[in-house]
Amino acid sequence: MSIASRRMSRIKASPAAMISARAMEMARAGRDVIALSAGEPDFDTPDPIKIAAIRAIVEGKTKYPPLTGIPELREAICRKLDRENGLRYAPDEVIVSNGGKQVVYNALAATLNPEDEVVVPAPFWMSYPDMTLLAGGTPVVAPADAANGFRLTPEQLERAITAKTKWLILNNPGNPSGAVYSAGDLAELAAVLRRHPHVWVLADDIYEHIVYGGGPFATMAQVAPDLYERTLTMNGLSKAYCMTGWRIGYGAGPKSLIAAMAKVQSQTTSGASSISQWAGVEALDGDQTFIRDNLAVFEERRDLAAAMLDQANGLSCRAPNGAFYLYVDCAGTVGKRTPDGGVIESDGDFAKYLLDAEEVAVVHGEAFGLSPYFRVSYALATNRLEEACRRIQRACASLSA
Ligand SMILES: Cc1ncc(COP(=O)(O)O)c(C=O)c1O
Repeated sequence: MSIASRRMSRIKASPAAMISARAMEMARAGRDVIALSAGEPDFDTPDPIKIAAIRAIVEGKTKYPPLTGIPELREAICRKLDRENGLRYAPDEVIVSNGGKQVVYNALAATLNPEDEVVVPAPFWMSYPDMTLLAGGTPVVAPADAANGFRLTPEQLERAITAKTKWLILNNPGNPSGAVYSAGDLAELAAVLRRHPHVWVLADDIYEHIVYGGGPFATMAQVAPDLYERTLTMNGLSKAYCMTGWRIGYGAGPKSLIAAMAKVQSQTTSGASSISQWAGVEALDGDQTFIRDNLAVFEERRDLAAAMLDQANGLSCRAPNGAFYLYVDCAGTVGKRTPDGGVIESDGDFAKYLLDAEEVAVVHGEAFGLSPYFRVSYALATNRLEEACRRIQRACASLSA
């Protein structure tokens, strides 16, 4: 008999983490695996940020931090939100947590009653539905169309909302789609939300700085200031600042929401690492030019991988405007035979075939709520990315009707 609670049977461990772990295991066994499955930049954390952390250690800033974050970091976050997003928050309307992930979980755990629904546009970041379930709510998946660049339309949002809806989670730019909502797109969604005053918005802006083509980034509280009082603006240092391991994320919203989230954090993890927080002050206040430099590298890789994958038999791939992922359509491989006689019946089968036949790890679309697709992360060295795309082309060419 399992010790796990009934609640555990409703959720699953992150498939991306599981696939990455399997790829690492294969690599340790001496196989030349290329993992396109991890959601983290390959770039190292910039030196000034590392030095700020070392300074914090040397200066003894190593005690329990304040629950919602050191004042210096919360003030730096307020400056950032004002400077980059035109958003005015006070430090007591901000919480610092152990990564963006904990911000999302705290918000859901602090607000969901058993009957509450959370609208999650698909394809979605895998944690949203499972975190909703873990917090006792019900995820309502609203599929977005590839033809609309995987952006949810106002009509699709309207259809997904019920009297029980508590939150809309809007991830912009999107993981895994790379979709970017413009200010105009957000204004249209805001018009729907105005008709439903009971619905809150969780704006997951963690890929904010990874937008191509010089396109301005927009977030809901900025586009629709009248929704300020029911918006949680969430962001973090993991992606743009190459700080995935430092575990710093933050949320900004109405004081009562932040206080409820702080309560969850107080009885689970307490404040985020004091050392990482001091590094975070340097990240937000220091030189930002590396963000632009990294973006140029990401853009080059995006174009390379999208073109190569679009040429593969049975695949179709467009280059999206944001994040560092491609969401590749593999409908043309479904029903085909692998060289050893198996039949590809789903995107899960295709991902397994890629790993077995060509030692390339990708995450299948089913994990993101929209099939048949797979996600490629192009946040890895360009030569390895090119080699991986070559292998995928070869795997596709080896399939027969
Ligand atoms: C859409 C999205 N939100 C939040 C997170 C969480 O980021 P963090 O590593 O800061 O917890 C991720 C990380 O993959 C993500 O893709």
